[in-house]
Amino acid sequence: MRKISFLVLVMAAILVASFSFTRRSEQEIPQTPAALGKMLFFDPILSRHRSISCSSCHREKYAFADTSATSIGELNKKGSRNAPSVMNVSGSGSFFWDGRASSLEEQALIPIANPAEMDLPVDSAVRRLNDDVQYLRYFMAIFKEKPNAKNLGTAIAIFEKTLNTYNTPFEDWQVNDNDSAVSASAKRGFQLFNGKARCAGCHFGGDFNNGGTDYRNIGLFDGKQLQDSGRAVITRSPDDVGRFKIPNLRNVAITAPYMHNGIFRHLREVIEYYNDPDKIVPHPINRDPLLSSPLHLSEIEKEDLENFLRALTDKRFVTTPE
Ligand code: HEC
Ligand code: HEC
Repeated sequence: MRKISFLVLVMAAILVASFSFTRRSEQEIPQTPAALGKMLFFDPILSRHRSISCSSCHREKYAFADTSATSIGELNKKGSRNAPSVMNVSGSGSFFWDGRASSLEEQALIPIANPAEMDLPVDSAVRRLNDDVQYLRYFMAIFKEKPNAKNLGTAIAIFEKTLNTYNTPFEDWQVNDNDSAVSASAKRGFQLFNGKARCAGCHFGGDFNNGGTDYRNIGLFDGKQLQDSGRAVITRSPDDVGRFKIPNLRNVAITAPYMHNGIFRHLREVIEYYNDPDKIVPHPINRDPLLSSPLHLSEIEKEDLENFLRALTDKRFVTTPE
């Protein structure tokens, strides 16, 4: 009897071992910090119930953004903000809509511990990685030390810094001088973006985010229905009420819904908003003077602007229409 149960145990152990072996051996064994960071980014091991990973809310197909207005954490907990893309973040000087993290290394540990997201204290996450024979081996090979909070944040940050996407029709036109890379409409849209539509008053620089450290109030705070005070949550300054980080516009055509609260589902709704913000939020608090009067864009001009924004989509995301 004893012998049989021992045998069963051994067989079960072999089964479990071979199962976990196949799980990891299907993937490449990471050789670099970026490859290790990528593995961690996709691994639910970093959430309390091992049910979600970074990639649950930052989905590769959507330029590592989310498709729900506000993200859903472990046990279906609803967050209060929209998950931004984690592509083209290497040139940004701050992270989160309110800029509360100043480096990607620091940022990476915050969602792990956040009770509304992965809900796993960072020291528990580190312990799990140390208890995992394979991760222990990978960290030792790559960082020459056991997993700790610092090298965990570093690996994920290094992976995120590889996610730069400048292979776009816009670059083909503007950088590689290929005049037929974008449509006439998109070209007019770029003119509008820089002129009549006033977009470049805030969205400028290589990623159209003024370096990712500039916070502006576009009127999505009214103290009633719209209650997220944005940058002021961090600075406590009344001037910052309703200000949010100027977001990167790279791949914006595939990162809907939009804004810190995911209020707009389509790019066209965003453009309609900027065209006449009062129509959608009539009593904003502290709205930026750049948005003080309607733009009076024609239907064609709205379409042009949208086509320009679409030209910022990296070619890896362009699929043939169904
Ligand atoms: C439950 C969904 C969820 C999970 C899981 C999640 N995130 Fe996020 N992420 C968000 C949301 C929502 C925001 C914006 C929050 C805010 O600004 O307050 C965000 C913001 C970010 C940003 C800032 C981007 C910018 O431009 O400011 C980065 C980088 C990021 N997450 C990386 C990660 C990493 C790395 C992990 C895994 C360790 C992760 N996220 C897990 C939802 C999630
Ligand atoms: C006064 C500065 C300012 C101006 C002018 C401005 N934006 Fe923005 N833009 C922002 C800020 C700040 C946000 C984030 C606001 C929020 O979430 O509350 C934003 C968000 C966006 C988003 C959503 C991005 C995302 O990932 O959710 C798009 C698209 C956008 N702007 C396009 C434009 C276009 C097109 C114009 C011109 C018609 C324009 N912006 C004019 C500052 C500005």
